[in-house]
Amino acid sequence: MTSFSGLTAIVTGAAGAMGEQEARMFAERGANVVLTDVRSDEGTAIADDIGKSAVFVPHDVSSESGWNTVIETALSTFGSVNVLVNNAAISKAIKLIDTDVDTFDLFYRINQLGVYLGMKSVVEPMKAAGGGSIINISSVAGLRGASTLFAYSASKWAVRGMTQSAALELARFKIRVNAVFPGVIDTPMNAPNPPGMNDVLVKTTPLRRMGESHEVAEAVLFLASPEASFATGAELAIDGGMSI
Ligand SMILES: NC(=O)c1ccc[n+]([C@@H]2O[C@H](COP(=O)([O-])OP(=O)(O)OC[C@H]3O[C@@H](n4cnc5c(N)ncnc54)[C@H](O)[C@@H]3O)[C@@H](O)[C@H]2O)c1
Repeated sequence: MTSFSGLTAIVTGAAGAMGEQEARMFAERGANVVLTDVRSDEGTAIADDIGKSAVFVPHDVSSESGWNTVIETALSTFGSVNVLVNNAAISKAIKLIDTDVDTFDLFYRINQLGVYLGMKSVVEPMKAAGGGSIINISSVAGLRGASTLFAYSASKWAVRGMTQSAALELARFKIRVNAVFPGVIDTPMNAPNPPGMNDVLVKTTPLRRMGESHEVAEAVLFLASPEASFATGAELAIDGGMSI
């Protein structure tokens, strides 16, 4: 198993299902972990449970000053920033015709601007560390259209584009930038979906089931690891075949 000993990983949205899983797995494999989320009570409890190798920072990913605090905390607590997982996001089933400007802007600010600010914030510390790995969490809705997820899909396509552009720009600093595209994963994010929607989604998944958070987390840890040292700009779908 890959060891992340001596490395520090930042995971946003770490009070949520996949973020918590990723933070715990990084810590189990030797990394120091900075967990961030707007949900402070849940995030603090998870970091406390992980132990001394974890710290929680209350953080809204759409806040530039908030990102400064995250980086300062990572450096003062653990001494380096080596991995960033841009995992935090919001999702809601809303059609184009029902999406008002404020709603579209909210998706833009959290799901797109948040990823941009995260990538920009880690460039200098990763350069100082001699390189690094950024993993952006997009979605199967960032690979194809989604008729009931208009603003979400727009933001996740943006994550895809930003990943490729940043991969090209940051390669000379040995900073790899890759994206993971989960399909339908069994997390609280899908709980508020309209009745029957999750059943329909499973029926359109060739493996005929929802994925589990740890299955996405394994892909994230692989892309963060030295085993993925020649992977940048990669698009890894963990979707049971849904996007084929
Ligand atoms: N669950 C799925 O089926 C699925 C499918 C495709 C992609 N994804 C993506 O996977 C990632 C994780 O999703 P999840 O299912 O674990 O969701 P989740 O709702 O369990 O976790 C998301 C976390 O992000 C946090 N968050 C929301 N707004 C924030 C903000 N402004 N700043 C900081 N944190 C904020 C939430 O508090 C929450 O803890 C997301 O990027 C999501 O879009 C999920």
